[in-house]
Amino acid sequence: MTTVATKNPFRFGNPVAGDYYLPRADLARTVQQFLQNRIHLVLIGPRRFGKTSFVTNLLGDFDREGYTTFFVDIFNITSHKDFLNQLLRALNPKKSWSQKFIEKIPSLKPKISLDIDQQTGEQSFGLSLENTSEKDVKNIIQDVLGDLEKLGENVLVVIDEFQKVTEIEDEGWLEATLRTFMQQLKNTSFLFTGSRKSIIYDMLNNHTRPFYRSCQSIEFPSFGNEFTDWILQRFNSIGISGDADTIKHLRNLVQDTPNYVQMVCFHLVARGVTHIDIPIVERTLALVVKQNSYAYQTLLSSLTSTQQRALRLAANEPKHIFAKDNLKKYEISSPPALSSAIKSLKDKNILEASSRGQIIFDDPLLAIWLRVAFS
Ligand SMILES: Nc1ncnc2c1ncn2[C@@H]1O[C@H](COP(=O)(O)OP(=O)(O)O)[C@@H](O)[C@H]1O
Ligand SMILES: [Mg+2]
Repeated sequence: MTTVATKNPFRFGNPVAGDYYLPRADLARTVQQFLQNRIHLVLIGPRRFGKTSFVTNLLGDFDREGYTTFFVDIFNITSHKDFLNQLLRALNPKKSWSQKFIEKIPSLKPKISLDIDQQTGEQSFGLSLENTSEKDVKNIIQDVLGDLEKLGENVLVVIDEFQKVTEIEDEGWLEATLRTFMQQLKNTSFLFTGSRKSIIYDMLNNHTRPFYRSCQSIEFPSFGNEFTDWILQRFNSIGISGDADTIKHLRNLVQDTPNYVQMVCFHLVARGVTHIDIPIVERTLALVVKQNSYAYQTLLSSLTSTQQRALRLAANEPKHIFAKDNLKKYEISSPPALSSAIKSLKDKNILEASSRGQIIFDDPLLAIWLRVAFS
């Protein structure tokens, strides 16, 4: 017996493009306006909201308009070498400007090799920094940034997850260096994205820091109703029916996180349902959350008992965290004890302050798991 596998119209986990991407036309227009006028921007939004998808799609538009574009993902960097590596990954041997660009940087050229994939024949640049001192790496970074000036009239540099620059222990060198070039380069606009709101807010508003008032910041918005319609259309395209209320309910359950909306929808399709309604969405979400139990348990066991209780409290009573009754119910000794637990949880990137001063979970599925696992 054979079954014809339906192509799943939903994707999650990685940035999306093409049919899997719902354009954010209004945001794109605003962002383009700023960048075309050389106003540097920071896009701040929760993780898994679609920032990387948005900027990579936007870069396509800028490419078509003749910009030279760099996409620099610094989520996993731990050093200046890593930063330089990521910066140079934006170069592509197939683009003639890339070759020329390297030629013009004497400090960089000897470190670069042209690698050819044995199987595909694809060319890429390799960078060897093993024997390069920290001082030289810093010099190369400065040379590369400085030479952006030679790349024509319009250059756009995107630095994704840019709060990471603050985690490199260099007494702010990279932050200050970027700022210097943001001011110097007359042909280059910078677009930063970040998910750690409090860190970025401090970078931009603390007058002792290099980025003080150097960028316009924009909150990455949630989707409007168009997302609900789009999701329904995706279901309809493979013969699955459902209504808008079901999708709205799902969006609510996952703090309107597009990644999780798509994830649950993916599972619904994979399970072979033909009609979606609220009960089946809830069951599917519960299943997905359960699959993550092990990771959540591991996370919990790394916390103090007060922190664990504070998390349970935040999951169940997000709007009344400091209510007296709740402290008692969750066995937390005092308001200061709760405050300090919440602060630690924010430092660990488990909780975040939302725009309305409310406390929200970095991972909405963790909140759901906590509600279910301890009910
Ligand atoms: N514009 C979009 N249209 C459809 N799905 C989206 C969109 N933006 C994000 N998503 C969903 O969110 C997931 C994560 O997107 P990503 O761009 O990696 O988010 P972030 O960079 O904010 O963490 C994607 O895999 C996709 O499921
Ligand atoms: Mg991202």
